[in-house]
Amino acid sequence: MKASAPGKIILFGEHAAVYGRPALAVPVTQVHADVEVLDSARAGIWINAPGVDLHAELNSLPGNHPIAAGIHGLFQLCGISQPCALEVTILSSIPVASGLGSGAAVSVALVRALALHIGHTLTDQQVNELVFDIERLHHGTPSGIDNTVITYAKPVFFIKGRPIETFKVGKPFTVVIAGTGIPAPTKESVADVRRLWMQDKEKVEKIFDEIGQISMSARRVIENGKPESLGELMDKNHQLLQELTVSSPDLDHLVQAARRAGAVGAKMSGGGRGGNMIALVEKEKAESVENALVSAGAKGTIVTVIESSK
Ligand code: MEV
Repeated sequence: MKASAPGKIILFGEHAAVYGRPALAVPVTQVHADVEVLDSARAGIWINAPGVDLHAELNSLPGNHPIAAGIHGLFQLCGISQPCALEVTILSSIPVASGLGSGAAVSVALVRALALHIGHTLTDQQVNELVFDIERLHHGTPSGIDNTVITYAKPVFFIKGRPIETFKVGKPFTVVIAGTGIPAPTKESVADVRRLWMQDKEKVEKIFDEIGQISMSARRVIENGKPESLGELMDKNHQLLQELTVSSPDLDHLVQAARRAGAVGAKMSGGGRGGNMIALVEKEKAESVENALVSAGAKGTIVTVIESSK
């Protein structure tokens, strides 16, 4: 049985989302994680993930390994006590630690493919909760935004702990995603923001409030079909992320290159420090902004159109 899950980008509100402020995220279907589960001729559960050079039997992995945790979590949920004889193949085109949600996408595809294989039907909510538990193992204190947008594969207006809320897209808009090529684990930037918050809660809470306001305005603007007004909000959000110390010289450099090339606005996206940035562009400028980003040193670009969800 096979299952697939998309990547994601955060449009607005990363980091503040961990502290209960609203954030907007959308799936990115150009990249995805694909998992296939087959019966095996040999005993045990064999995991093949060539992208991360992992070829191992389940019981040889530490219990908190995200893939092992996904399999154990699913078995527990379905009331299955091993032993099974399975071959699990994991392929992903989502760059690791890039802000595109590679970990959550692998987990979502993994638990869905396994559930299908053992004939167990999972609701989206069950998948989301299970993957959130796995995210906690490697992200420390995640808000849950990555697993939510990837599980439901829809634009999400996210507030931690609240039921999933999608948003309408009044008029489609185009975003260029560009990678710094620098892997940056979200866990570290989230932990650094926590340290900053511990040092000066009043100041950092104010930054989170401003980011939350930007997410609310952005939702209104998107729903009202005026995406051109998002540029200014992106620029402001980037500045606030700089204040949270999660941007980096490489991200700032790409953000400036995109603006110089005619992007309507640009910001880093996701955990920061490395990973990806996003630029809002008029459709006809997508190619020239993409080229400018590559000339400025971007490692990998994706052009994605944010359309209304059904
Ligand atoms: C990571 O994609 C987004 C962060 O806000 C962390 C989180 O919300 O869990 C940086």
